[in-house]
Amino acid sequence: MIRLNNTIRVTPFCILALLGLLLFTILIGIEKQQERDETFRHFQDSRPGRSRLDLLEYSVRTHKGYVTLNEINEKVYNSFGYEITIAALPIPTLRMLNEPTCGSVFSEWLRISREPQPEIPPKEIMSRKSDEFLMNGYAGLDEYYFNDKNAAGSDKPRNWDQISKLMTYSKTDLGELAYPGESVSMYHAMAVHRLDEMSGVVIGSMQPWVEVMALRHGAKHILTVEYNQLTIEEQFKDRLSSILPVDLVNNWNDYADSFDFAASFSSIEHSGLGRYGDPLDPIGDLREMLKIRCLLKKGGLLFLGLPFGTDAIQYNAHRIYGSIRLGMMMTGFEWLATYSGESPEAFEFNSTRLHYKGTFGLTQYTMVLRKL
Ligand SMILES: *[C@@H]1O[C@H](CO)[C@@H](O)[C@H](O)[C@H]1NC(C)=O
Repeated sequence: MIRLNNTIRVTPFCILALLGLLLFTILIGIEKQQERDETFRHFQDSRPGRSRLDLLEYSVRTHKGYVTLNEINEKVYNSFGYEITIAALPIPTLRMLNEPTCGSVFSEWLRISREPQPEIPPKEIMSRKSDEFLMNGYAGLDEYYFNDKNAAGSDKPRNWDQISKLMTYSKTDLGELAYPGESVSMYHAMAVHRLDEMSGVVIGSMQPWVEVMALRHGAKHILTVEYNQLTIEEQFKDRLSSILPVDLVNNWNDYADSFDFAASFSSIEHSGLGRYGDPLDPIGDLREMLKIRCLLKKGGLLFLGLPFGTDAIQYNAHRIYGSIRLGMMMTGFEWLATYSGESPEAFEFNSTRLHYKGTFGLTQYTMVLRKL
């Protein structure tokens, strides 16, 4: 009885408490909804044009035929740690799902560079890694084998003691030192996006033609990252210097966020394919891009020469860059313009131009990108 009485006496308090709790829950609910709306508005503002509809509306050309950006987003980008933020053609804009720190970018590079490697560059992609190399089957595969590991007849650094002579060459003659016709695209890009008083880093050059083009367009100092020791002509030693890749990586803190520009032509597409005895790494090229991003100042320019075409690997010669891979390569950069060797003016880079040589056809162009 006493218990019952107690219960009855307590009841008005219970009702009050329940009402209070209900009100509290409703208020929290309203706040959460407002937060969600806020996030959604922010999401819409900061990522214009992104919607599932857009991703289904746009298709890119692959070696499998035309594939929607939605499919590429789900089957390739998400598993590589990226997602589309702007559905655009011929190259969608992406973001990384988990942006790595520069510390982890360089330490991962070191870790991979120390892994044991096969004696002879493999003739085929190991099946265990084929999805990673071939973007889950969305990149074409062609056989085109080289063993340039310590090869006797392989390219060695040349002309580093002849810089003053190269400074007098025509752009065409400079281009002839590397890829006749195509190398001139670097010159055209630098002539429009001048380098006056800037300091920069050049990645992967046997002959100093990229460096000479940069000097000719005003660069103050250039650091070349090269596996070989370079013999630089005395009178250019205040403007040119070189460093071994491993030394740059070990001392990355001294170089992070320090360069006004970076330049690389026909180099990054080889990274990770083992042709030069380099460590096998399906995303060796994407790693190089992350490294370059760490080295550049915010707003710094990247002059990037790559083979363009329909996404593919001609194993182990090189990768060919199409809509899919370019999206990942350019993440964190703004795309300013693209130059060919044919004209001093930037050209319109559209799907027709990208794919005009067919499945394994390629052309090297120079893109100008700005670090965001
Ligand atoms: C694509 O760009 C080229 C120049 O690079 C131009 O001649 C052509 O008309 C463009 N095609 C389309 C469909 O816009």
